[in-house]
Amino acid sequence: MQKEILFSLQNAAVHYGGVKALQDVTVRVEEGEIVALMGPNGAGKSTVLKTIFGLVQPVRGNVLWHGQKIHPKPYEMAGRGISYVPQGRQVFKNLTVYENLELGGYALAARNDLKGNIESALRLFPALQGKLREKAASLSGGQQQMLTIARGLVSDPKVLLLDEPSLGLAPKIVKEVFEKIREIHEQRKIAVVIIEHSIKSVLAIAQRVYVLAEGKIAFDGTPDTLKSDTLERIFLGQNAR
Ligand SMILES: Nc1ncnc2c1ncn2[C@@H]1O[C@H](COP(=O)(O)OP(=O)(O)OP(=O)(O)O)[C@@H](O)[C@H]1O
Ligand SMILES: [Mg+2]
Repeated sequence: MQKEILFSLQNAAVHYGGVKALQDVTVRVEEGEIVALMGPNGAGKSTVLKTIFGLVQPVRGNVLWHGQKIHPKPYEMAGRGISYVPQGRQVFKNLTVYENLELGGYALAARNDLKGNIESALRLFPALQGKLREKAASLSGGQQQMLTIARGLVSDPKVLLLDEPSLGLAPKIVKEVFEKIREIHEQRKIAVVIIEHSIKSVLAIAQRVYVLAEGKIAFDGTPDTLKSDTLERIFLGQNAR
């Protein structure tokens, strides 16, 4: 059975001044699937997520949500069920772990849901339970990354957009982060779009993969059809310039 397409970016072009960050990029996400975005530095991966979340406006192309054209605005997206966890482990360092989690619920229409949603996010991240009153600054890098993901769940999203959650973490912690993402996906049946460099990690969790190179889609398929020589060509092609 064909799953419903939750949202898509269609034929999108994004420019930053003279920089053509995306050219004719089409990406779709179906209900409950994990989609990976791969590609070299500067390929446009973060720009795809920012466009979906309304942080940048495409000069051409559309964002569709349940088949309807929308003009995404960041403050409305959590209300629609899309949560965005940006690149670079952005916790509020001077706030406590609990206060960080509360901020994840800023868009909840029913404030009464906040406490329950935080408790339910914490069940997935028991390591944070004992640290709720501590400043986020006191957490390790891995725990801060877990906190950003937990915070992203507090709005009870249907889609989680994760920009390189494994960046700069030790291999053991990377493995833990990926296990969490798989757990979130299995328990909550939510769709996940994840930017990731490591093909091994992507193979372990994603159902579909897009590879971007120089602002264009260079590969669109399943992880098992993504060959390492394709990736090498894409990555080396960029470096050889
Ligand atoms: N705010 C901005 N102003 C100008 N150029 C930008 C801006 N943000 C991104 N770019 C440029 O747009 C292109 C795509 O950037 P983007 O951040 O989407 O790439 P990326 O694939 O996420 O890279 P990385 O792996 O380094 O995070 C790059 O050439 C980048 O330098
Ligand atoms: Mg990026």
